[in-house]
Amino acid sequence: MTEYPPISEQLSADDLESARTEGRRKMDWADQHMPIMNALRDSFEADQVLEGERIAMAMHVEAKTAILVEVLADAGAEVAVTGCNPLSTHDDVSAALDTHERITSYAKRGVDDEEYYDAIHATLGLEPTITVDDGMDLVAAVHEDYPELIDGIVGGAEETTTGVHRLRAMDDDGALEYPVFAVNDTPMKRLFDNIHGTGESSLASIAMTTNLSWAGKNVVVAGFGYCGKGVARKASGQNANVIVTEVEPRRALEAHMEGYDVLPMAEAAEIGDVFITTTGNRDVIVEEHFEGMKDGVLLANAGHFDIEIDLEALVDLAVDTYEARDGVEAYELEDGRRLNVIAEGRLVNLAAPISLGHPVEVMDQSFGVQAACVREMVENGDEYGPGVHEVPDELDKEIAEIKLEAEGVEFDALTDTQREYMGSWDHGT
Ligand code: NAI
Repeated sequence: MTEYPPISEQLSADDLESARTEGRRKMDWADQHMPIMNALRDSFEADQVLEGERIAMAMHVEAKTAILVEVLADAGAEVAVTGCNPLSTHDDVSAALDTHERITSYAKRGVDDEEYYDAIHATLGLEPTITVDDGMDLVAAVHEDYPELIDGIVGGAEETTTGVHRLRAMDDDGALEYPVFAVNDTPMKRLFDNIHGTGESSLASIAMTTNLSWAGKNVVVAGFGYCGKGVARKASGQNANVIVTEVEPRRALEAHMEGYDVLPMAEAAEIGDVFITTTGNRDVIVEEHFEGMKDGVLLANAGHFDIEIDLEALVDLAVDTYEARDGVEAYELEDGRRLNVIAEGRLVNLAAPISLGHPVEVMDQSFGVQAACVREMVENGDEYGPGVHEVPDELDKEIAEIKLEAEGVEFDALTDTQREYMGSWDHGT
């Protein structure tokens, strides 16, 4: 197993002290706005539901995630955590987490590829019984490099669309050897996190990073899935003119019926002022598109991996590159046009220098589902065979009910007659 130091051994003593204080302050703020995680913490801690478990996690290590990590540790588990993106870790939060007696945090911002994977492997030194992923890098490392761990793993949980896609591909190949919950696919995650979270935080990150307005701009949103819908809706709400590109006919039609312009990227490239990719696919904006773009455009990606904008092609086209602002790299082309890439084409709402990720309330919901899934794997893991599993609807509803109660929202319940009617087939006209 790889030797890789936790964050507390990577920072100087002075930096560590102040980082811990600031990280704790960020976590306390998040914690105040996470009623679901607070309710789960109370019950998990009282019953020590994860006692004796060992959990390896690869997530965006910032304040909200830290509350999830802490809740799992307070429930009795040993936790080893690292980042799931080289740029999304907040070192101060990572340092604060590492002070918990049952948590080791290897997450550090700005690591290179080798350090990134060394840290992933270091978490597996814990010999986990559960894995919690955002993007499937842990599951991949277990299967490719440490298959001897598989027998000891009861199951896993996956946070994002790209991770679930990768897991399903692995499952289809018969290569996934333990059960993993598709947390991403639950209504409590996807309808709020992917839509509202990605929409709000991507736009906020781009606006703060560039100090530019949305009003009157042509904003090209690539992909009209859950994230794309959120980005399009929020950009439109800020008075931008939204143009959608798609490859799936029903989603293209949906965008058209929502009132957005739908165009092929080759045409959108020529009129866009801001481009935001949300496809989870590769090579969405490539050389032929760069060639037609206007001077000064902004290019950002909100999909999981940094492969949606072909930066290698842009580097080849550019005669000069320079940092135009913190988090903005300008690529100057031979004819003088400047194309500005935000956060190195990595997911913009987490990787730009001022990015904070999704709003706290949204992550309270997503991580509520994550925590409930970990508990379910521990309590009933034997009932799930190897493969990707949908999260039981009852767990998702439990999280919604906790949130509604915290918000003071009351709602109706079916009467017995209504329940019987909804379950019957013989009541016609
Ligand atoms: P989704 O599957 O609902 O939507 C993706 C859409 O992109 C689909 O409609 C698909 O037809 C379209 N698409 C695929 N290739 C395309 C191409 N070449 N051109 C135009 N459209 C194309 O997925 P979802 O949930 O919207 O997630 C998208 C990505 O965002 C994933 O990588 C996911 O992991 C990531 N994600 C990022 C978050 C963030 O915080 N930035 C939060 C949640 C998800």
